[in-house]
Amino acid sequence: MKPKRLISLFLSLALAAGFAFPVLATGFSDVRPDAWYAEAVVWASEKGVMGGYGGGTFGPDESVTRAQFSAVLYRAAGSPAVNGQSRFPDVGASDAFAAAVGWASTEGLMNGYADGFFGRNDPVTRQQVAAILWRCAGSPVASGNADFSDVSQVSGYARTAVNWIGANGIMNADDNRFRPTDNATRAEIAASVRNYYDGMESENSGGKTLIAWFSRANNIDFDPNVDATTSASINLIDGNAVGNAKLLADMVQAAVGGDEFAIETTEKYPSGYRATTNQASAEQSAQAPPKLSTRVSNWEDYDTVILIYPCWWGGLPMPVRTFLEEYGFTGKTVLPLCTHEGSGMGGTQRELADACPGATVLTGLAVRGGSVSGAAANVENWLHNAGIFD
Ligand SMILES: Cc1cc2nc3c(=O)[nH]c(=O)nc-3n(C[C@H](O)[C@H](O)[C@H](O)COP(=O)(O)O)c2cc1C
Repeated sequence: MKPKRLISLFLSLALAAGFAFPVLATGFSDVRPDAWYAEAVVWASEKGVMGGYGGGTFGPDESVTRAQFSAVLYRAAGSPAVNGQSRFPDVGASDAFAAAVGWASTEGLMNGYADGFFGRNDPVTRQQVAAILWRCAGSPVASGNADFSDVSQVSGYARTAVNWIGANGIMNADDNRFRPTDNATRAEIAASVRNYYDGMESENSGGKTLIAWFSRANNIDFDPNVDATTSASINLIDGNAVGNAKLLADMVQAAVGGDEFAIETTEKYPSGYRATTNQASAEQSAQAPPKLSTRVSNWEDYDTVILIYPCWWGGLPMPVRTFLEEYGFTGKTVLPLCTHEGSGMGGTQRELADACPGATVLTGLAVRGGSVSGAAANVENWLHNAGIFD
């Protein structure tokens, strides 16, 4: 049994028996075992995500500064290595939370204010917590709505996030009021971060993960005399032509498991990089997606689809469009992983959101072709932040 289940079992039995609770049931003298946040506090403390104060207290009603909140999230994410210096004048390299702030800003979770400052001592508000956790989840573009009575008071930047957070039960509201501008308390932070991680775990534990990839290398009439020498993205491995998307697919599978699926066209593209690009351009201009020769037989088994593809002419390769048209994505979580030579994701994030109505399309990761072989840590970090693995 998981430790938190044991704790809740213990708490329920103790409650049922009408015990006067000893302080140590939660580890904190100011966290009663029957408090709504008790389990979350125990979770946060056991995971090393939030500690207590001196004297054995937790301070459940205290507010939390932005710097402290970055540290909570950073520890919950496993304290990953951080490159680079802080870009905020109010966060020095020697500050205890410098790594956490650096990480949160590099990941795009917490940005500074317009004046360039991070606002280290400003209390974090409930709508800020919602927005930041929503960004942790990859800023889902398609999700349900929450029916908070004060939703009109939520700032524009946090509107989608608050809807998402409520629809997914990550933050609660008293009397259906979200109270967006109230400072978040330590108890609320513990509960929402725990709910976020619990939700991500259960979202990703039920169904299986499909790693669907498309690469030029296995969709051409490979001619070693032409393609092995002139094609930037062809990696020759044991004499076989292996594309960058396939290398990424193997990387993802090594990290999270799941089933790989190669998207392959019925008609091969011509050998020679230029010839392929010409054909792809013609297909794209004519909006003529080619037919596919491969098919996922057990599509219903998958609830997460990690879609890996090269950027072609700033967008999705047309064969990937065919793939998207052939399956229903409602209820699925889609993670786009794009390899490119300078365009980044190009327009593919938006194309995917449009092509997968009813799916939760998370924020993708772009990896430049020449950097694929060294991208494992980056890819793992991205998957971790999306809650796909610990
Ligand atoms: C038809 C075609 C169009 C491309 N268009 C772009 C582009 O618009 N922007 C870009 O950064 N790279 C572009 N590339 C480069 C590929 O995205 C890049 O080399 C990628 O890493 C190849 O992945 P693969 O080996 O899995 O096919 C294009 C490549 C091809 C073949």
